[in-house]
Amino acid sequence: MNIKDQIPSLLEEIQDLSLEASLLLMGQRFAGRAVFSSALGQEDQVIAHAIFKNQLPVQVFSLDTGRLFHETYALWEETEQLYQAKIKAYYPDATQIEDFVDSHGINSFYESVENRKLCCNIRKVQPLKRALAGASVWITGLRAAQSDNRSNISLLEWDEAFQIIKFNPIIGWSYEDMLAYLALYHIPSNKLHQSGFISIGCAPCTRAIAPGEEARAGRWWWEQTQKECGLHANYFNK
Ligand code: ADX
Ligand code: SF4
Repeated sequence: MNIKDQIPSLLEEIQDLSLEASLLLMGQRFAGRAVFSSALGQEDQVIAHAIFKNQLPVQVFSLDTGRLFHETYALWEETEQLYQAKIKAYYPDATQIEDFVDSHGINSFYESVENRKLCCNIRKVQPLKRALAGASVWITGLRAAQSDNRSNISLLEWDEAFQIIKFNPIIGWSYEDMLAYLALYHIPSNKLHQSGFISIGCAPCTRAIAPGEEARAGRWWWEQTQKECGLHANYFNK
């Protein structure tokens, strides 16, 4: 049976399991082929804790765009030290970045949606392709409550764009569920959360949000787009 066809039965097996048990099942079932992408967000720190604390057979990686906040790098290091574990870094192709910056400018993402998507493609989507090569399961920290356009995402589904099973183990968690888990296990998170930042991406493209604003309002705040970068292309138009 190809892996796509296994999704319905896998879903039955994992849907009532705890976070830790579902990650263990998927990690064992797809031994050496289950990977977790962490952006060091609060959601990601929940999943990283479950993986590292229980030494689950899942490889953890992050896409270092080169434009992250220094607070994010500090958390990356703190997390590795706390769990004595490695978050593998993936980098953009140097020539692609050099050509893009030469032709478009160092901060050209503010000038047009097209430039912004090109930058996200070079700094995030292309490295993600390398990170997912050879994997069968891609674990993410997506939550349905993060934004209206994420509300229909499921626990387990086929990602047509990357030809991989996408597993979103905390898709149904509320913001409060996540904060409770972080507090219960004293899990470190980004210092910027204390200054009104909720969803945190690259430094030039993220701002704090005002009370009452949607969690992702601070991402690419100058745009009237779906506020997505192309990583989750199976859900959102590019
Ligand atoms: S996104 O627009 O940047 O994709 P968000 O920051 O809400 O959205 O992240 C959602 C999920 O995408 C994260 O939980 C993580 O699995 C993945 N992701 C986003 N950015 C990165 C990154 N830089 N490195 C690794 N994974 C990432
Ligand atoms: Fe480039 Fe901004 Fe996208 Fe980061 S979020 S890759 S800096 S456009």
